[in-house]
Amino acid sequence: MSNKATLEIDGKKYEFPLIVGTENEVAIDVKSLRSATGGVITIDPGYKNTGSCESAITFLDGEKGILRYRGYSIEELAEKADFLEVAYLLIFGELPTQDELDKFHSDIKSHSVVDDDIKKILEAFPKSAHPMGVLSSLTSALTAFNPTSVDVDSEEEMYNAIVRILGKFPVLVAWTMRKKHGMPLEYGDDSLGYVENVLKMMFKSPNGDYEQNPILVNALDKLLILHADHEQNCSTSTVRIAGSSHAGLFVSLASGISALWGPLHGGANQAVLEMLEAIKEDDGDTKKYMAKAKDKEDPFRLMGFGHRVYKNFDPRAKIIKVAADEVLSQLGVEDPILDIAKGLEKEALEDSYFVDRKLYPNVDFYSGIIYRAMGIPVEMFTVMFALGRLPGWIAQWKEMRTKKEPIGRPRQLYIGETYREFKTIKNR
Ligand code: CMC
Repeated sequence: MSNKATLEIDGKKYEFPLIVGTENEVAIDVKSLRSATGGVITIDPGYKNTGSCESAITFLDGEKGILRYRGYSIEELAEKADFLEVAYLLIFGELPTQDELDKFHSDIKSHSVVDDDIKKILEAFPKSAHPMGVLSSLTSALTAFNPTSVDVDSEEEMYNAIVRILGKFPVLVAWTMRKKHGMPLEYGDDSLGYVENVLKMMFKSPNGDYEQNPILVNALDKLLILHADHEQNCSTSTVRIAGSSHAGLFVSLASGISALWGPLHGGANQAVLEMLEAIKEDDGDTKKYMAKAKDKEDPFRLMGFGHRVYKNFDPRAKIIKVAADEVLSQLGVEDPILDIAKGLEKEALEDSYFVDRKLYPNVDFYSGIIYRAMGIPVEMFTVMFALGRLPGWIAQWKEMRTKKEPIGRPRQLYIGETYREFKTIKNR
């Protein structure tokens, strides 16, 4: 293949270099387009064809259904690693040795307390507030309690900021849920693993101890790994673009949380469960919802289906589907919603509307069923996604800042009024 792409505008030819990634993906480097052509830009709403960066963190092949973190397959990581190892891998590029992992965990634990005044901010929220809004606000508020900006050229400062947020974020997650359910706010237990500690902070009752259930620990560990990164998705791009203005780590993460909240992105896990519940209430009439999803006059979409990049099975959905069966049977939970989900999946995979558009179940289709079986309230599902995605956001922010990427600032094609003379109010 030639290493150049040629563009012809008004009979004049321009050449642009091709860049090839380590997995042989090809990109046209249009960095010089505007200056070479005297102002021509590309336009690509939703960035369907636009690479925003070169990244060495996550590889995703949507046609083949491949997902790898730093070269390791998601299937192997979900089976053999734990969430903290995966977090380390994503952020620092290599799987940790036992010593590195122990130090990482111990440093995180040393930052697992948040300023008590954060409770006052939390108290000001109404109980009806959605946990994602609360989590985004509290994460942003952490900046006020940890105001020193990170010198990104200092590995030590970068490391300290990373372990600090990894320590404090689970506390905010747990408090967000406890506040909504009128439970007293508690701190974690430093003798526990990262995931065990999350569960205890979320569920410990005020008048009793919390007994760990290995089924729940394993299920949550796996779910967090599967959500840990997904290259340049909406929330990650938001974190990178917010951070590209040299905004700090915590506020960049807070903007990522807001982006994740939407039902087309992380909010889909809550939307899926609500959709399955509605189908159940509607006597399990999946056909009706399939018809709604296909009707172009109806804004309804089959939640948990389709993906910008995957035009094949989302590999995370395959793992989660198996896990849903396992976890429910291990916990002895019979949830009719699981059968509705399986029936809906089967119908969609045999329906030409979904087949032609290559719409497959995504990560959010079955995850909510597991969260629900674990006793996690539906409005917390997207918060759990955020907890899993945290290491990915951090890794991407770190990569962007250490590579000294320029501020993210897209161009536009103006299609509004051309110059008009101002009219005074009586002449309008
Ligand atoms: N139900 C019905 N039709 C759909 C769906 C769906 N879930 N998803 C896509 N389509 C149709 C869409 O109407 C369009 O049809 P046509 O070509 O006739 O206009 C075609 O498929 C292509 O869709 P698109 O909206 O152009 O694709 P996109 O890449 O812009 O959107 C998506 C991707 C994930 C936003 C979309 O598939 C969707 O809204 N899915 C439901 C929400 C969901 O499950 N989101 C979670 C995504 S995975 C977790 C994450 O990483 O966020």
